[in-house]
Amino acid sequence: MKHVLVELEERRAKARLGGGEARIAAQHAKGKLTARERIECFLDEGSFEEFDMFVEHRSTDFGMQDTKISGDGVVTGWGTVNGRTVFIFAKDFTVFGGSLSEAHAEKVIKLQDMALKNRAPIIGLYDAGGARIQEGVAALGGYAEIFQRNVLASGVIPQISVIMGPCAGGDVYSPAMTDFIFMVRDTSYMFVTGPDVVKTVTNETVSAEELGGASIHTTKSSIADGAYDNDVEALLQMRRLIDLLPQSNTSDVPEIDNYQSVDEMDASLDTLVPDNANKPYDVKELIVKVIDEGDFFEIQAAFAKNIVCGFGRVEGRTVGLVANQPMVLAGVLDSDASRKAARFVRFCDCFNIPIVTFVDVPGFLPGTAQEYGGLIKHGAKLLFAYGEATVPKVTVITRKAYGGAYDVMASKHLRGDINYAWPSAQIAVMGAKGAVEIIFRKDIADPEKIAAHTKMYEDRFLSPFVAAERGYIDEVIMPHSTRKRIARGLRMLRNKSLSNPWKKHDNIPL
Ligand code: HXC
Repeated sequence: MKHVLVELEERRAKARLGGGEARIAAQHAKGKLTARERIECFLDEGSFEEFDMFVEHRSTDFGMQDTKISGDGVVTGWGTVNGRTVFIFAKDFTVFGGSLSEAHAEKVIKLQDMALKNRAPIIGLYDAGGARIQEGVAALGGYAEIFQRNVLASGVIPQISVIMGPCAGGDVYSPAMTDFIFMVRDTSYMFVTGPDVVKTVTNETVSAEELGGASIHTTKSSIADGAYDNDVEALLQMRRLIDLLPQSNTSDVPEIDNYQSVDEMDASLDTLVPDNANKPYDVKELIVKVIDEGDFFEIQAAFAKNIVCGFGRVEGRTVGLVANQPMVLAGVLDSDASRKAARFVRFCDCFNIPIVTFVDVPGFLPGTAQEYGGLIKHGAKLLFAYGEATVPKVTVITRKAYGGAYDVMASKHLRGDINYAWPSAQIAVMGAKGAVEIIFRKDIADPEKIAAHTKMYEDRFLSPFVAAERGYIDEVIMPHSTRKRIARGLRMLRNKSLSNPWKKHDNIPL
């Protein structure tokens, strides 16, 4: 028996070395952790249970039969984050560049199946060179099996991808089908075809960073939901995110007992909105004053900054927050903002996370660039997302709610459960200037008349009371009591039960 135990330990030690000391040193020299170090950093100490440590590839082409390495380029298993189960796989760049063979794919597939069966989140850490070139179609088949499982798990368990090195070819599409993608700055990049292929096909000269670095994917393409400076920071932030998410679509949101009282009033909110309706203010100030301890996990912070999306807690329970940002483009809804928020709202709805919406929106952005870019369909995505969402929805209009954007932003008419407005709210088809110029066009040359019409329009429409008279606003609330009102509303809505008509699935305008 002793001999077998010793042999097991030796085999384990060898497997844990992956591609060997030299490759591990090269990995560290690039500022990257190894696959196992990353897993250790992410999970609760000592909680990792590894699967398939001794799996090897079965390829015999190109001399591969002589190059077997235990684990075959991916480390898989499960562990806990603050006591809750999470499945994890980490590509091991030290073994064949983390490339995906048939056996490697089988390890990932096994993990995906276990995560789905056991209803727990799955997180993938990417640092790999795509399909194992020596394996040909066996690798392609392996990818497709993984993609299929991403699709089936979508909306059932949270799926998160972290790009921590190269991620190209077949490796990009599995992350693309997960709920969130995060990247590490300077050491990671993600593209379907790399700079060499780009040069050959399009004659463009571009670096890996310019083609698919974190700076591109967090600001231009919106492929990534966030980026961090190094592996450790990224993994610690992933622990924070996992902590906020439910285990699956049938579990309730996580709840913690210790939270800041909701009874404290915040007088600073009474002066947050400037008197001049054209002056901006930072809606994030409102968000952090409403959520517990101001602890906000923002999604896509560097993209479409005219809308803010992210997670926080109210009375210890996770909520999703969506807010127009008056600091950027006056908080207007454009195609990018609509897509960003629509995806976030749908994630929350999949996983029973209540949605709190703060509205200060002058409308949709006019112009050929927007119209040619498909604003109608992109705007409809957000409309659709809010309209289909059955989770508790609490909305607060702080200032402008103009035109179609009033409807879109979780209005009463889209089954908003509790719709509040601050006294500073202006709920109307459009702002005073535009409205008066249209309906009193005949008086346009007479400044006195225009001023009188404007005053009349402002008095009548630029307030929350016309909407409140119709019940479109449930109550006009004091800004200082916003946290308490939202918390009480969410408490009342805990047992909300609402379902949509049976369908195979909807047909959201893509
Ligand atoms: C087999 C691979 C590999 C791969 C890397 N390696 N990629 N082995 N298949 N796809 C091996 C290398 O041969 C090398 O082995 C080791 O991993 C480290 O690679 P390096 O090139 O030395 O590292 P680096 O300079 O950091 O470059 C990393 C890289 C580069 C940019 C990822 O390796 C690369 O371009 N790889 C090929 C990428 C690719 O074209 N993949 C196929 C995509 S097509 P040794 O023994 O020398 O250390 C695809 C189709 C799927 O994925 C489509 C499904 C939808």
